[in-house]
This record gives sequence, structure tokens and C-alpha cells, in this order.
Amino acid sequence: MCGIVGYIGNREAQSILISGLSKLEYRGYDSAGISVYNGKALQTAKKKGRLAVLEEQLQSNPLNGHIGIGHTRWATHGKPSDENAHPHSDNDHQFSIIHNGIIENYLSLKEELVAKGHVFKSETDTEVIAHLIQSLYEGDMEQAVQRAVKKMKGAYALVVLSKSEPDKLIAVRLASPLIVGVGQGENFIGSDIPAILEYTRNVYILNDGEMAVLTRNDVQLKDVEGNSISREIYHVDWDIVTAEKDGYDHFMLKEIHEQPKGYRDTMGSRIQSDQHKVDLKELTLSKQQIESIDRIHIVACGTAYHAGLVGKQVLESMTRIPVEVDVASEYRYRNPIITNNTLVIIVSQSGETADTLAALREAKSQGATILAITNVVGSSVTREADQVLITWAGPEIAVASTKAYTTQLITFYLLGCHFAEVLETKDEQFIAEVVSALQVLPEQVEMILSQAEDIKRYAEHIAQHDHVFFLGRGLDFAVAQEASLKLKEISYIHSEAYAAGELKHGTLALIEEGTPVVAIATQEDLFDKTVSNIQEVVARGADVLGLSTVGDEELVKSVNQLLFIPKTLPFLTPALSIIPLQLLSYYAAMARGTDVDKPRNLAKSVTVE
Ligand code: F6R
Repeated sequence: MCGIVGYIGNREAQSILISGLSKLEYRGYDSAGISVYNGKALQTAKKKGRLAVLEEQLQSNPLNGHIGIGHTRWATHGKPSDENAHPHSDNDHQFSIIHNGIIENYLSLKEELVAKGHVFKSETDTEVIAHLIQSLYEGDMEQAVQRAVKKMKGAYALVVLSKSEPDKLIAVRLASPLIVGVGQGENFIGSDIPAILEYTRNVYILNDGEMAVLTRNDVQLKDVEGNSISREIYHVDWDIVTAEKDGYDHFMLKEIHEQPKGYRDTMGSRIQSDQHKVDLKELTLSKQQIESIDRIHIVACGTAYHAGLVGKQVLESMTRIPVEVDVASEYRYRNPIITNNTLVIIVSQSGETADTLAALREAKSQGATILAITNVVGSSVTREADQVLITWAGPEIAVASTKAYTTQLITFYLLGCHFAEVLETKDEQFIAEVVSALQVLPEQVEMILSQAEDIKRYAEHIAQHDHVFFLGRGLDFAVAQEASLKLKEISYIHSEAYAAGELKHGTLALIEEGTPVVAIATQEDLFDKTVSNIQEVVARGADVLGLSTVGDEELVKSVNQLLFIPKTLPFLTPALSIIPLQLLSYYAAMARGTDVDKPRNLAKSVTVE
């Protein structure tokens, strides 16, 4: 979603802003712009389309100056256009601002400002903020911003530049991420760490309701009343190279190949190999607290929700505690039954998804204990949850989530083992078996990745079709849903995931000669049933790619092509079976020539409701 960069120092701001924005391209955007103060006035350049379009314009008309702000916009209010792109300004070009989030009361604010003579150029909610700050300015920019945010309702990460006080940048946040990078004789603002990592590893992470005042040599953190806040600097210890492509054609392919490492890092010291046990040291839930949990809600969006579907089956089978899984945007409005004994597991790669955060807050306000499974240390979700389990997937750049999903699965397995041990719902031997099977998963993933060429061939075949079906039962159905989302989002091929036994209740009507069907059949206890369902589509002419575990040769007779994953415990198969299906989507998208890492209309971090 939208990206923010700000710079104040002695270097030319333009190149730092553009380079920072390029590091945020993965978030998804449809226009880009920068404002730089040139010693006399604020100059702004903004263009619809990719950053390259803006860069082309800047080549012939550079903006010179040592302080500036930059933004990539993902349209919410108003279509993607030059006018609607950020930065926005007031009628006197006194302030230039960039904003992530949504101002919910922008229409009433706009009406008041129009009545006072303000003239608007764009359809955005953001332009209202620029006019509002100007109307409240009485010689002190900090106070004007404080007054403005008190009038604004909604979510914002906001950065303000003014020609009246051109020696400072002001940043303020509510429910939209913002960080400050601390340099020497220069300081930075970013909506995400990669934006500034080339220049500094020392950052302050702003919390809701906090503002930062940046000058060349100083950063002051305050609340919106102006009271000083002290905060420790967070030192970023991962490298920019891990956030770059490293020789792969796309971030997505790189991230698919990073999964063995993600599995190993996520298990890491949480597995005590010598004792074949799981030790989740970071969880501070006592035995008594775990015993008091009488229901679990897993809440997430998109791919993280699909990880939750697997998590449900894992936790229920390991603990016998009833688990419900909800899409976050539905959960908060369905009046869920929450008590003090409810554990709500929030799953989010970014830890910043607006719907997920809102669900977290709703559950917390009703007394639930919140356990977050997230990939971003210091994200909003980690700060608001009671308990946090980090998935050590490393930065995920491609919009389509791969390694975040699989490390979420690993985390659910670890959590299941931990709870089962505390609750004594599974014996030591069973847990030891799971732990041993978990430990060989990374090598098994490597084996699957080495079969990429076979998968590519089938992907090129399905890329010629407009509709694909994914079938499975039990855990295979959960994987089918994730595989189907992956294919849709990056190849734009329409696909549906169906519980294999449900097909005959309507969807079978859509199967005709040559319809591609991917049938996942890895669950021993459901195998025969799934094979019967496969026969039903084969009989209607479907072209079936089967996916099964080594040894399930029975399927060979029923399908056109067959892929195998190595043998593992039945409930661990999702951590293997999704791998060839991620590659399938990737190669289908390649065959169709789509923008794999930045699919149309999508954003990496969805910070609006
Ligand atoms: C799909 C995808 C999205 C995200 C969803 C939640 O590949 O990436 O469906 O899973 O937007 O995002 P997080 O996990 O950051 O809360």
C-alpha cells in the first residue's frame, strides 16, 4: 500500500527520496510524487503510474534542495491520476504533505474549508489535511499539526514540510506505520524500514498518537499534546541484501526458495533436539492460563487466514480445544462470542493490516487474550498483542505471500506441540515424532524445489486456460484455498478451491472437456474418498494434475499428471504440498507475462479497511 519517505540533511533530497520510494515499490502503488524545498519555495513533481515515469520527468526538471518528502500512492479516495497523487498542498503552497491511511471525516472538514474560501484540486481526503494545517497555522508548524490531528478522524501516517519553517519535517501517526531513521547530520522518515536502510540502521518506531520533529541534527519524539517522549533506538540487524533479489528473476521466486531457511529459522532454538520437545520461551502464558482456554479464535486476512485454516485443524487435533477461524473484516462485525477464557490468535505477515488490527482491538476490548503470529518485529500487532510469536521468514517483498505463509504453518505446529505438552493431550512420544518430522521438512522442501522444471511444464499448460479448479479434503482443502488464491492473484487466471466432496453439489456443472483441475490427495484417511471425487471430474473430461505423497501410486491411474511430495506425518503435509503449488502459480504467471511481484490492484500491506 502507500509508501512514505522523508529526508532532511546536507545531501540532495531528490535522489534519496526516489531511492527510498523504489525500496517501497513492493507495497503496491499507482502514482508517485515528491516535494523538495529549494531555498525559496516548495517544488512538487507527481505522476500517475510507476516511479520510472516520475523519474523521467525529474531527469529533465530536477528538484534541488536538502529537505523533502516522497510518496507512492495506492488509490482509495479518487482514481489514480497526477492530481490525486501525493504530495498535496494548500492554496498558498505553504505546506506540502504526504499521507498513508484514510481520513474518515474528510468531507465535513472539506465543507468547512470550502466555506472559508479554500479551493481543492484533487478528489483525495489527503488534500484536506494540507488545507486544514494551513488554516490552523499561527506561526508554529508543530502546533498547527497538533491542532489538525485533533480534528481528524481515521488512520494516518502523515509527514509535513513547510516553506515557513523549512528546517524541519514533522511526522505523526495513528494506526498506520511510520518510522524515523537517525543519521549523522541527517535524518529520515519511512513508512517501512527498507525505505531508509541504505542510509541508517538506527530507527525509532512511532506508536499511535506520537509525532516526530526532525531537524538536520536532532529528532524529538512527542505526543500530540507536545509532551516529550523518550524511546530507545531500535537497531536493524538484517541486511538490505536480504531485501533484494539476489540473482532471482523475481522476489517471489527468491522467497519460495528461501522457505527451507525460513522453516529452520522459525524452529531455531524453539526446538530442543536432544529432548525432542518444543520450548516456546517467548510465551509467558502459565500452565493455569493455558488450561483455562476454552475456545480459540484465529483471525487474519488472505493468505494468513489460509494459514489459520490449517492452524485450526492442527490445534484442534493436538489440544481438543474448539477453534474457529475468521476473516478479520468479518470477525469484528459479527459480534463473536468472546470471554476471558478465549484465546484470539492474530496472524499477520506485516503486523499492520488494518482489518486484522481492528479485529485484535475488538477482541482485546472484550477481554480475550491475544496471541500474535507475525513476521515483523515492532509492528503494531506485536505492540498490541499480549503474546507474540515471530515467524522468522525474513523480509517478504513480493506481494504474493509464500514464505510468510509456510512459516506461519510451522509456528502453528510448534504452538500445537507446546499446548499439547502443557495440557497433556498428546504423549511425549507423539510430540517427539512431530518434532523429528518437523526437523526434516526443510530438506524435503529442497527436494520439491529441485523438481521445478516438471511443475513449470504443467504451469505453461494451465496458463492457456481461463478457469482452474483446486480440490482437496481436510487439510488438503485448506491448502487448495491458498493455492487458488496464489494462482488468481499473480496470473489473473480465475480459479476456485473446492472441498472435493462438495463439487457434486453444484460446481461439477462447470467441469467440461479439458478443464484443468489440481487435485490434492495427501491425507491417508481421506485418500480413497478423494480418489472417488477425482474420478467424478475425470468422467466429465477434466484434465487433472494430482498431488500426492510418495507411494500413493493409486492416483497414477486416475490423473493426467502426477506430482509427489515426500512422505511426512499427515498433518504436516500442508508445509510441503503448498510448495509445488506456489511454483505452479509463479510459472503460470510467467507464461502469461504478468507483473509477478506487483500484481495489478494489490498491495503488500493493506493498511486501509
Ligand atoms: C496474498 C497476500 C494477502 C495477505 C493479506 C494479509 O498473497 O499476501 O492475502 O496475506 O493481505 O496480510 P498480512 O499477513 O500482512 O496481515
